[in-house]
Amino acid sequence: MANMGERAKHVKNMLVSVWGDGGGHVKVVKAPGRVNLIGEHTDYNDGFVLPVAIDREIIMAGRPRDDGKVRIYAADLDAKSSFDLKDIQRDPHAPWSNYIRGVLLLLKERGLPVKGMDVAFSGDVPLAAGLSSSAALEMATGLMATIVGHFHVDMVDLVKIGQAAENTFVGVNCGIMDQFISGLGRKDHALFLDCRSLEYELVPLPPMEDYKIVIANTMVRRGLVDSAYNERRSQCEQGVRTLAEYLPGITALRDVTPAEFEQYRGHLPAIVAKRCEHVIYENQRVLDSVKALRAGDVAQFGRFMGDSHRSLRDLYEVSSKELDTMVEAAAKTAGTVGTRMTGAGFGGCTVSLVEAPSVDGFIAEVGDIYTARTGLEPEFYVCQAEDGAEQLEF
Ligand code: GLA
Repeated sequence: MANMGERAKHVKNMLVSVWGDGGGHVKVVKAPGRVNLIGEHTDYNDGFVLPVAIDREIIMAGRPRDDGKVRIYAADLDAKSSFDLKDIQRDPHAPWSNYIRGVLLLLKERGLPVKGMDVAFSGDVPLAAGLSSSAALEMATGLMATIVGHFHVDMVDLVKIGQAAENTFVGVNCGIMDQFISGLGRKDHALFLDCRSLEYELVPLPPMEDYKIVIANTMVRRGLVDSAYNERRSQCEQGVRTLAEYLPGITALRDVTPAEFEQYRGHLPAIVAKRCEHVIYENQRVLDSVKALRAGDVAQFGRFMGDSHRSLRDLYEVSSKELDTMVEAAAKTAGTVGTRMTGAGFGGCTVSLVEAPSVDGFIAEVGDIYTARTGLEPEFYVCQAEDGAEQLEF
């Protein structure tokens, strides 16, 4: 991003103005948010996903302290939180700090030489919009801890620590997609990830001069997202237990082909069958999408995005009136190649692939329709695929 250097300097200056100019040399890292192109609610089923790291990120400045204390300044909230590495607890008054606390605690529990530090951070990933600002904060923290503490952790291990921090410390039962793409995304590429083996391939995106990724924020996020998410997870697990009676050896929906599912779906309660159908066919759509993108068949990829949305809406039932309205508006706008809800659902954002010359018209038209139907003002972010978490030199 053009102004990354400027923003990095700004965060660095904030660190010094808030926490004083003593101490060691200040280092700066970035970790991006993400948008998932296809493969929704598949990661916790050991399945496949195809996300992109976007050019919106958390920038974090940090420097070491010798007394084992951690002091954090969240610039966008103008809020502070401090703690001692010897006694890391959740802070109910600064819940945003729990992502940082959790990552540092887990690094420490793995016996790594985590050092005290002064930190300031700021970001332009919209909060609570389903674009993984929390995963970005976890990855920025993990990377900063390794730099300040002079130790090395493989990026995939940092990703696992980020996810574990969110699962066990923050208390959100997410899969591994968000941290993985924030850690390992690559400029101009989507990342095709096997969430079981954690093997991945970078898939070149259609040329940016021709197609843009446009994220549309419904500006609504339902409170029930966490409980509904956990309910979907257990319905999938229930499906696996029943299907395993007929398909011995399966341990996740990832192991079930569409043909096998069709053979045994009658043994599942109707609602569980719907959930499983989404996941099993969505996995197949990711595999087919990668093939389509590699073959340059952008139109086919766009159709898979539409299929994915309908499946999330009708079978997995994690869409919302606002998401459906945005998708319907986008689907009938000139230049749209494909469009769907993205992320956990129940509000948040849609992602569309749009022909570059049509982007301005897309934003105007979809915005008008959405506002007319919902009374809400959406936000649009035209994004490009960027590199994952890294130290910034400037
Ligand atoms: C959230 C979770 C991810 C993934 C998506 C749904 O973003 O954090 O792990 O499960 O929902 O695809």
